[in-house]
Amino acid sequence: MYPNQRNRRLRQSPALRQLVSENQLTVNDLMLPVFVKEGTQVKEPIPSMPGCYRLSLDWLGEELKAIADLGIHAVLLFVKVDEALKDNNGTEALNPEGLMQRAVRTVKAIAPQMVVMTDVALDPYSSFGHDGIVENNVILNDPTVEVLSQMALSHAQAGADFVAPSDMMDGRIQKIRSVLEAAQYFHTGIMSYSAKYASAFYGPFREALDSAPGFGDKRSYHMDPANRLEAITETLRDIEEGADLVMVKPGLAYLDIIREIRDKVEVPIAAYQVSGEYAMLKAAAEKGWLEHDAVMMEQLLAFKRAGANLIATYHAKEAAQLLS
Ligand code: PBG
Repeated sequence: MYPNQRNRRLRQSPALRQLVSENQLTVNDLMLPVFVKEGTQVKEPIPSMPGCYRLSLDWLGEELKAIADLGIHAVLLFVKVDEALKDNNGTEALNPEGLMQRAVRTVKAIAPQMVVMTDVALDPYSSFGHDGIVENNVILNDPTVEVLSQMALSHAQAGADFVAPSDMMDGRIQKIRSVLEAAQYFHTGIMSYSAKYASAFYGPFREALDSAPGFGDKRSYHMDPANRLEAITETLRDIEEGADLVMVKPGLAYLDIIREIRDKVEVPIAAYQVSGEYAMLKAAAEKGWLEHDAVMMEQLLAFKRAGANLIATYHAKEAAQLLS
C-alpha cells in the first residue's frame, strides 16, 4: 500500500521501463498479406487500404526483396480471380496453373526461405462470393470440405509451406490433414482460422478481391461476434483435427478471445489485424486525428499482450521499418 508501494518508481526512466517491460513486438512476429492479380506490370492501389496494392506476378520479385530486406519472414497470399473463371464449385481453385499456384512457385523461386502461407477458401473463386458451394441459398458443408482439401493439396504441390483455411466449414482441418498425409506432404503446415467471426471489418478486403457475398451474409458459417465459449471449442477441435497454428480474427475487437484461447491451448496463436482495422487507422491519420505510427505500434503490441505469438497485418512493412 502507498507509500510503501509507489508504482511510479518503476516508470522513472526509459532504462527502468525497459527492464520491467512485459511484452515486446519484434519483426519476427509479423506476417504480411499480399494480394496478387493476373497481368504484367500491374500495381493497382486498393482505395480503402492506402499503401496496399494488387500486384501481378512480375512485381513479386521487387516486393519480396523489400519484404525480406525488412526482416519479415512470412507472407500470406491472396488472389484476385478473373470474373470469367468463377463458378459455384470454385473449379479454378484446383487448377495447377491457377494464379495462386503460380504465385506460390514465383515467391518460392525468388525467396526460398520465406514462409509462404496460402488462403484456402472458395470466396475469391465463387460466383456467389461465398466460402462454400451453394445450393438453394444454403452453403453446403461436406462437398465444400472436399474441394478445400483438394485446393490445399494443390497449394502444397505448388510449394506452399502452410495452407490457411479461412472458411469455417466443419471438419475441414481433419480432411485437409488426411489428404496432405495421404499425399505424403507430412511437413505442410496448417494455420487454421479457428475463431473467425462474421465481421463487418472485412469490407475493404472484399473490395480488394471483389469477393463480397452475392446474397445474404456469412453468418451461417463464420462465428457470432457475441460468442466466447464457442471460440474455445472451435479452436480445440481444430487442434485435434491437425492444425499447427490457430488464429483469432478480426484482431483488435477480439483481444479477449485471444487471451481466452492463450490460457487454454499450447499451440502458437496468430492474430489477424484485418482490412477494416487497417482502414480505420489510415483514415483517421489522413484526417490528422490520430498519430499513425504511435497508434499502429500500440495496436500491434496489444496483440502480443493479449497472447498472440504471430500477427498478420497490412502494417507489417511499416512496423518492420520502425522496429529496425
Ligand atoms: C477469405 C478471407 C477473408 C479475409 C481473409 N480471408 C474474407 C472473408 O472471409 O469474408 C478477410 C481479411 C481482411 O479483412 O483483411 N475467406
